[in-house]
Amino acid sequence: MSDQTRIIGFPLPRIDGPLKVSGRAAYAAEHHPDNMVHGCVHVATIAKGRILSIDSTQAAQYPGVVKIYTHENRPSAAWWDSAWKDAVALPGHPFRPLQNDRILFDGQPVALVVAETFEAARDAASMIRVSYAEEEPATDIVAEQRNSYEPKEKRSGIAPPPSPRGDAEAAFEAAAFKMSADYVLEGEHHNPMELFSSTVIWEKDGSITVHDKTQGSQNSQGYVCGVFNLPKDKVRVFNRYVGGAFGSGLRPKHQLFLSVMAALDLKRSVKLELSRREMFYLTWRPATVQQMSMAADESGKLVSIMHHAVEATSKYEDYQEVVVNWSGLAYKCDNVKLTYELAAMNVSTPGDMRAPGAATGVFALESAIDELSYTAGLDPLEMRILNFVHMDQNEDKQFTSKALHACYRQGAEAFGWDKRNPEPRSMRDGQDLVGYGVSTGVWEAQITNAAAKVRLNSDLSVMVSAAASDIGTGTYTILAQIGAESFGIKPENVTVDIGDSSLPQTSVEGGSWTAASTGSAVQAAAANVRATLLKHAQAMENTPLADATVEQTTVRDGRLVLEVNDQVGVSVADVLAHAGLSHIEEEGQVAPDKKTMKSFSSYTHSANFVEVHVDEELGVIRITKVVVAVAAGRILNPKTARSQILGGVVMGIGMALHEEGMFDHRTGRIMNHNLAEYHIPSHADVRDIEVIFVEEHDGKTSPLGVKGLGEIGIVGFAAAVANALYHATGTRVRHLPITIDKLA
Ligand code: MOS
Repeated sequence: MSDQTRIIGFPLPRIDGPLKVSGRAAYAAEHHPDNMVHGCVHVATIAKGRILSIDSTQAAQYPGVVKIYTHENRPSAAWWDSAWKDAVALPGHPFRPLQNDRILFDGQPVALVVAETFEAARDAASMIRVSYAEEEPATDIVAEQRNSYEPKEKRSGIAPPPSPRGDAEAAFEAAAFKMSADYVLEGEHHNPMELFSSTVIWEKDGSITVHDKTQGSQNSQGYVCGVFNLPKDKVRVFNRYVGGAFGSGLRPKHQLFLSVMAALDLKRSVKLELSRREMFYLTWRPATVQQMSMAADESGKLVSIMHHAVEATSKYEDYQEVVVNWSGLAYKCDNVKLTYELAAMNVSTPGDMRAPGAATGVFALESAIDELSYTAGLDPLEMRILNFVHMDQNEDKQFTSKALHACYRQGAEAFGWDKRNPEPRSMRDGQDLVGYGVSTGVWEAQITNAAAKVRLNSDLSVMVSAAASDIGTGTYTILAQIGAESFGIKPENVTVDIGDSSLPQTSVEGGSWTAASTGSAVQAAAANVRATLLKHAQAMENTPLADATVEQTTVRDGRLVLEVNDQVGVSVADVLAHAGLSHIEEEGQVAPDKKTMKSFSSYTHSANFVEVHVDEELGVIRITKVVVAVAAGRILNPKTARSQILGGVVMGIGMALHEEGMFDHRTGRIMNHNLAEYHIPSHADVRDIEVIFVEEHDGKTSPLGVKGLGEIGIVGFAAAVANALYHATGTRVRHLPITIDKLA
């Protein structure tokens, strides 16, 4: 294959980029079917209690209002007596909008107004008056953490942390160096640009087409079918373009339920787009309280780790994450005790937010080992290298690959770690205190069941299709690259069709698994196309490929040829013409390899290096330089890959310094449900970020050699910032976000 066509590994710009920046990529709320009505939700203003009455008289008289739905007049959907759950549902009972008079969380939908225009719906919704019997809410994780917690379902949800190994308490007591501390993470809210929206197109035959803001069109399709008792062929869901999600779109949100409910009831197309404020009510990374105890021997080798976490969940579902397991995984240590509990509060169920669990747990772990390195008198990076582990001690397995040493080495060199003066508060730049911090990141590398179709046309153009999503990650682009490389063509000759529930089955786009899963499925489908092509070629008279196997062949310059000698072969067009075909289309599938999983663990790794400046008088914190070195197997596209890490780092800056969901615990209400008062990094907060991908060959995680990149960029990052701030100022902050007042 010539260099121009070997395009896996080439930094191809996003193929959907021009559509997005020119407004031609239609998002869920940007479809405009005829005869459509608009919805607007009226939300609860208490966090716990009952609705006594709803007065919608004035709203109903508003010009253009079509219908107002509340729990008192909602249509009967199959939902109400079904035990049906979405593909990523949790133990407990999914929230059911307009089910009854109970209020479970602040901002809960209480009424849906449907009107001829959005403005009418919104205005009328503001005229609804609800009276409540309010009860005292519990929303403070610090106050709730000692409450006893009853699991919603025995033995369901994620596996509990691994059993203790060794004797962590005794080892801690006997150790030379030790630390114990509590770490607090305030709740955070996903803020993708695109709001939760559904446009439901109602057809006369009773079928519906839904453009939904989701990370999985088939999950939304399954949800709608399950809840409304509709057959799959009557419901088609599209999510061709998704304006970011970060996990917030993994589970269907209530705009999908309400818009479908209204469309089926009114027999009209319905659009419902939630407001930015409503996004805050529905999606969040749970507040968490963690206790870490860590001890090392005289040489700095870890002898004990104890990590306990309490995370917020709702009263109706047990949201769970893997928070503490990382502490038994990341470093060599023979005495480890990991425990995890939930605190059920009057909040909406938290959800996965970029690197769920790891972002939280590794913050505590990577802060703690940093604290201990100072106690032990070791350089923080040296401390980590000293405790490097070659085995997954939680599961007693080998790693499929772990190029973390290279991350430490290359990251440190690019950053200039050797210029660090070990003494806290010793480095300055004019009026600023300067600090260097480091942390390790680790995230699961996973592959899920996935299928894809590949069609090779006689003009050598290729079509790739799967129900996969592109939530801004670059799925379109990498699938085009894989399709192009499979047939020795240019990516512009590949059409990628994704974001449609009718296409071959894939999971939601999450867990950083899409490139490994759907990418490998495309590769498999392409191999199947080549096999069919070879079969047809071998049916031709005097074929030069009579004895060739599919493994020995490749497609080069429009010809199916021998890999070792491209003089031997036949033109693809001739093969198809001879067979009387316009194209060859095949499906390919991948699934996790059970045998590999039994003996190997697979993770991506990173080393984060952060420089901070702190204005000594004003306390203003600036993250002035970041170097992230990542080991994530094969990099399909260094450009989209780098963007994933940049995104993770920027979100990590937000986690470290800005993002803080605030409740008024007296009322249980969210106080800063807007982007004016909920702070995220702006351009001025983001300076130099260098991303290094270290070479890592992993033939076990996925057929493609990919390990995934969506999440690793944020893992450990907040700890690197906290560690740099300690180095700069001598003040250790264990409560995120690190605002100026906490440093003082
Ligand atoms: Mo990710 S938090 O699984 O979208």
